[in-house]
Amino acid sequence: MSPTPPTPSGSDHPLGRRITKRLDKLAALTDEPGRITRLYLSPAHRKAADLVAGWMADCGMSPRIDAVANVVGRYEAASPDAPVLVIGSHIDTVIDAGKFDGNLGVVTAIEVVDRLHRAGRRLPFAIEIVAFGDEEGSRFPSTLGGSRLLAGSFDKRILDENDIDGTSRRAALLAFGCEPNRIDHDAQRTERVLGYVEVHIEQGPVLEARNLSVGVVTAINGATRGTIEVRGVGGHAGTIPMHLRRDAFSAAAEMALAIERRAASEADLVATVGRIEIPGGVVNSVPGLARFTLDIRSPADERRTRAVADIQAEMEAIAVRRRVELSVALGYQAPAALCDARLSGLLAAAVAERGIEVLRLPSGAGHDAMSFREKWPMAMLFVRCRGGISHSPAEHASIEDIDISARVLADFIDQLAATL
Ligand code: GLV
Ligand code: MN
Ligand code: MN
Repeated sequence: MSPTPPTPSGSDHPLGRRITKRLDKLAALTDEPGRITRLYLSPAHRKAADLVAGWMADCGMSPRIDAVANVVGRYEAASPDAPVLVIGSHIDTVIDAGKFDGNLGVVTAIEVVDRLHRAGRRLPFAIEIVAFGDEEGSRFPSTLGGSRLLAGSFDKRILDENDIDGTSRRAALLAFGCEPNRIDHDAQRTERVLGYVEVHIEQGPVLEARNLSVGVVTAINGATRGTIEVRGVGGHAGTIPMHLRRDAFSAAAEMALAIERRAASEADLVATVGRIEIPGGVVNSVPGLARFTLDIRSPADERRTRAVADIQAEMEAIAVRRRVELSVALGYQAPAALCDARLSGLLAAAVAERGIEVLRLPSGAGHDAMSFREKWPMAMLFVRCRGGISHSPAEHASIEDIDISARVLADFIDQLAATL
């Protein structure tokens, strides 16, 4: 099957332009004026979900918002009992985010379906576009709740997790307008799923270094996340001699350095302490309590598990030596996920058809796609981003590269249709 016409030269990249315009509209929906912050189930997330649902409806899809705030838009197939292709990404963001992470994949999929709709084309499969809301994990201790619901692996115990303000996931879902008691219902799916595909900015520097607009993902790193609490003894900052202190923060700081050291000792292993708090901390008190988050990732699950065990042992040794109590809650695990050879091959063929060298690369960042590991075949297309920067307002992907990625997705869909 012939690909869509080549990307026009000069300033004319209509798909890229339309996608970027929609990204700008989404970027205006924030919980913090002046910067993009759209945490899961926040008021800005609600507005973004409604905007995306409206776009889906305009593009010939029937949208709904499910029990965990996934926005699901369905573009029907040529026949009623056809299988379905799921295309997704997320519309939640980190704090002070860029406008491309996650949002690009959702909007690109909508734009590609809009083309089918305007051409009056129906395929031998339905397309479901899903805008997940819980990919970043910047609000609750666990993440990927939305994609795990679709994959049938949603763990209802996470409904009782609290965010930093003490709001439970269940309460936040209800406030958003979701019905968590419909989780089992929404997790059911009877039709055949051909697979899951996701377009996402690379969030790293490899494509830029190779001067390539897009690349095909091979696998996604596995991750462990958790919260560590250190209890020491608080007291007066002026009166307690250093050798008598049981300072919770200093112990936590030593643990953070031990974590960094362990991760640096092994290729491809990464570990991050992304948030640390001293609840009730003041300038003139020795901290009696410190809490920090931990995020450990590796492409190999056994190496990640070993690193987690080593880090735990090291933190325990530090706690004993400093006479503080340690409590470690590592509740969130996401195994590494291999991309499907056949779907990735179709993406690669679509890239090659555009005259672009096919680069295959792993993903260090987590993605909704990893929830479909061992459930559905899944594949991902990465889009070059400037300087490899992400999780930052400096995140940028060019209109040209976005245009190319949308055309690759459209060609992938055509090629998949041709195989049925
Ligand atoms: C999501 O962006 C993650 O990889 O943490
Ligand atoms: Mn993302
Ligand atoms: Mn992200």
